[in-house]
Amino acid sequence: MFMRIVDIIEKKRDGKELSTQEIDFFINGFCSGQIFEYQAAALIMAIFIRGLNSRETADLTAAMTRSGDCIDLSEIPGIKVDKHSTGGVGDKTTLVVAPIAAACGVPVAKMSGRGLGHTGGTIDKLESIKGFRTSLSKEEFINNVKEIGIAISGQTGNLAPADKKLYALRDVTATVSSIPLIASSVMSKKLASGADRIVLDVKTGSGAFMKTLDESVDLAREMISIGEQMGKKTVALITDMDTPLGNCIGNTLEVREAIDVLRGRGPKDLTAVCLELAARMLELGGKGSIEDCRLMAENSIKNGSALKKLGELAAKQGAVYDPWDERAMKQAPIRYPVAARCDGYISSMKSDLVGKASMLLGAGRTTKDSPIDHGAGIVLFKKTSDYIKKGDILAELHTSSHDLIEQAEELLLEAYEITEKPPEPRPLILAYADSNTVIKY
Ligand code: URA
Repeated sequence: MFMRIVDIIEKKRDGKELSTQEIDFFINGFCSGQIFEYQAAALIMAIFIRGLNSRETADLTAAMTRSGDCIDLSEIPGIKVDKHSTGGVGDKTTLVVAPIAAACGVPVAKMSGRGLGHTGGTIDKLESIKGFRTSLSKEEFINNVKEIGIAISGQTGNLAPADKKLYALRDVTATVSSIPLIASSVMSKKLASGADRIVLDVKTGSGAFMKTLDESVDLAREMISIGEQMGKKTVALITDMDTPLGNCIGNTLEVREAIDVLRGRGPKDLTAVCLELAARMLELGGKGSIEDCRLMAENSIKNGSALKKLGELAAKQGAVYDPWDERAMKQAPIRYPVAARCDGYISSMKSDLVGKASMLLGAGRTTKDSPIDHGAGIVLFKKTSDYIKKGDILAELHTSSHDLIEQAEELLLEAYEITEKPPEPRPLILAYADSNTVIKY
């Protein structure tokens, strides 16, 4: 059938449903270069505004998955479990959860992304470890999982190339926070990278792309339905991103904090979320009841096996030193303390502004290809619920340039909401969802 992209854009602009063939035509044409970026940008904006129904979202995911290779992990024994976060500020959970799962005997073959919008990405974090290679061939990826039970690779080669192109375009066209676009982006990568079962960490709140619990549950259900339609058991935790997770934001800083968690001395909030995600991975990996799996995850920290696994992963992927060695990572030369300007309780935080302040200091990209300063970022000393007095040090900025400090400091101070009364406590894990149920805590 004869098709033109302009008609497809017009159809979605007017709120009509796209057919499977029209969605395939868009993805194939965009990947082959026959559909231009400005046309793709117009269509994704129309999708952002008008939405996609579940059938269209599933078709978009399938077309994006088929745009490249799909890895066959069947030669690796055991149930392969993948994990993916929808993105947040200070979200370094993969650096903790993947080694725990692997240390407990669940093979982890993980494809991760770079920073998107104000959120960081696992690949940028791992690249702050000197020598760490995130670009693995398909063979190396599979062999590493076979040999040491874990591999983490960037979106290299030909895996979901449609997502790679759309992800970069969405980042610069204000079209990230859309349920069908996030669901298809996440699930196309998960389906292409071949794991048998999937744990999703859907972030919710000011630092996430989904701001409310209801939206986050809708996103989780959409992704679960896509996973299950493809025969992959998929579960989701909806976790808090109203406050940055842990105390560190920025690549080197976050790797260090993840190591603290694996040593049993990490921040409580980060440790709790990591243990629950790891337990869900172990449960899907067939390691027993959720209670047994929680104990197993905790033990892997207590007995040092999860930290050892992170060291093995780093060595296997080219790291020059153990990641906990002082020489392993670049640090920022400038540390600048940010002081509170009034007394009161921190009642809430605009976590997206904390992410933006960290990016401004050098931790994120200003354009798609710009380099990042791995040492840059922010260490928070005070977070939501803490009482502060004027002059207390709220945070420390890490950067390589004095010129970046003033603007980042203002942005960070704007992120803190100070009131006379303390805020209501908010749970860290707000909901659990699978194909049968949604439990809100
Ligand atoms: N993570 C992804 O992989 N894609 C998105 O669109 C958002 C978060």
